[in-house]
Amino acid sequence: MFAIARAAAPIKNATRMGVRAKHTLPSLSYGFGDLEPAISGQIMELHYTKHHQTYVNNLNAAEASLSEALAKGDAKAEISTLKAINFNGGGHVNHTLFWANLAPANQGGGELGSGPLKEAIERDFGSLEELKTKFNAQLAGIQGSGWGWLGLDKNSGKLAITTTANQDPLLSHIPLIGIDAWEHAFYLQYLNDKASYFKNIWNVINFEEAQKRLVAAK
Ligand SMILES: [Fe+2]
Repeated sequence: MFAIARAAAPIKNATRMGVRAKHTLPSLSYGFGDLEPAISGQIMELHYTKHHQTYVNNLNAAEASLSEALAKGDAKAEISTLKAINFNGGGHVNHTLFWANLAPANQGGGELGSGPLKEAIERDFGSLEELKTKFNAQLAGIQGSGWGWLGLDKNSGKLAITTTANQDPLLSHIPLIGIDAWEHAFYLQYLNDKASYFKNIWNVINFEEAQKRLVAAK
């Protein structure tokens, strides 16, 4: 209790002084090559250390520009940072969710065990196979870059499949599963055959993590 209070104090003080905590890459619970053959180690390494890192760096830079603009009361400069915050902030949020969303096949990846998520999927889609078919059809329909989502509609309590463009995060639903449909997520391995990427990624989806999000959202 006291240890927590002591640890929290510097954060409160930092916030009062306007010092922002910088965003950083989340740690992965598996190695880059552990999702093979669904996703190659080369893709995972580049995706995490280059693409996600760039979103983090650019988000930190955009937030620094916003802080400067706020300190100066420069509304025009504030507005000019918002697109970069949306794009890079979305990139950071989406990829953080994506990494946690994946698990090696020998650590439960691809397995939907019995529980509230399985029950909700069967209630709203009939079966996991039907969910995959509908989800992959929506992924295939994304024009350009974007994300496919299995989300929870908080109002109806039902699951829904939806997509967002570019790096827009899912705000209309609670995200349970997000699949990166950017070319950087598959091209080195699958080339133009993105349908195979969408098919194979289900073998490394961490349904246990998705179920935790579902339970926490209720
Ligand atoms: Fe990505």
